[in-house]
Amino acid sequence: MTAYPKTQALMSRGCDFLGTEYAILCGAMSWVSERHLVSAISNAGGFGVIACGAMTPELLDREIAGTKELTQKPFGVNLITMHPQLFELIEVCGKHRVGHVVLAGGIPPKGSVEGIKGHGAKVVVFAPTLALAKKLLRSGGDALVIEGMEAGGHIGPVATSVLAQEFLPALKEEHLVFVAGGIGRGEAIAGYLEMGAVGAQLGTRFACASESIAHPNFKKAFFRANARDAVASVQLDPRLPVIPVRALKNKGTEEFTAKQREVGLLLDQGSVDMGEAQLRIEHFWAGALRRAVIDGDVENGSLMAGQSVGMVTKEEPVAEIIAALMRESEDALSRR
Ligand SMILES: Cc1cc2nc3c(=O)[nH]c(=O)nc-3n(C[C@H](O)[C@H](O)[C@H](O)COP(=O)(O)O)c2cc1C
Repeated sequence: MTAYPKTQALMSRGCDFLGTEYAILCGAMSWVSERHLVSAISNAGGFGVIACGAMTPELLDREIAGTKELTQKPFGVNLITMHPQLFELIEVCGKHRVGHVVLAGGIPPKGSVEGIKGHGAKVVVFAPTLALAKKLLRSGGDALVIEGMEAGGHIGPVATSVLAQEFLPALKEEHLVFVAGGIGRGEAIAGYLEMGAVGAQLGTRFACASESIAHPNFKKAFFRANARDAVASVQLDPRLPVIPVRALKNKGTEEFTAKQREVGLLLDQGSVDMGEAQLRIEHFWAGALRRAVIDGDVENGSLMAGQSVGMVTKEEPVAEIIAALMRESEDALSRR
């Protein structure tokens, strides 16, 4: 007899896939999802995912080794597809026998899915459209995360509720789909499980857990914020490939708008080419998240956060957050 029988019955395919007690993933968050938070999530029965971000293969090697020292439970690694050393990073995951690799940030380059599977690991993919999801699942993806625009960090244009209605009926019989974006309570997890999801991924709700190494200033900004404070960045110039980022409004978000204007002007004048312009935009954000998460500069750094930030009101241990989510889901399903 489990503590949450109705929820765990609906999560069973997700739990089998992840090798966990609960099919609750803590989505990778650059700088936040390091060994302490990842191991805490896995030790509490969920599934932690290391955010590789811009780490070198050596740094990732150390982070995986450090995580293994803190947990015996399964955890995954999130790799960004445009990382210039993607294939070396895949080898590092293979060396450590990481069981699940999440490929984020774009269409996986040729050979990457095969490389991961060659090490016996499972591949988790993201897809912005149903057609692409089907293609990725046909060509080696073992599970899919659909992530709506309510989420923190880099986002697409469609809401989680709409993605769920479009993707779940089409994929639920044959594939494993996890839902992410805007989930702050267990009632929402129950709803998506009933629609055919096998589990949920949350980021914002876990970012300020007691085990998270995020700076106290970063956590305080989350506790104070309401849903409406977590805004998506605006693309000012259609020529510049700015993927929207959802973050708490601050001086940093305003400066980003000004930076786009400045780079757009340089493009008009012909003083930079498109490659250089794109690089300047990317450099602007490079390090911004680190400034907020690690240094605690909540004025100029990037406070990436989803709309569920309004439900993050205090520092709590990961195990309590997971227990609350499971209890809320179970209560909701029991009332049906
Ligand atoms: C501070 C922060 C950093 C993030 N960094 C990454 C990242 O490096 N890679 C990634 O795939 N997703 C990243 N995400 C997205 C999360 O993995 C997760 O999918 C998302 O937070 C789920 O939505 P929620 O914030 O509404 O719970 C980040 C989210 C936050 C809040």
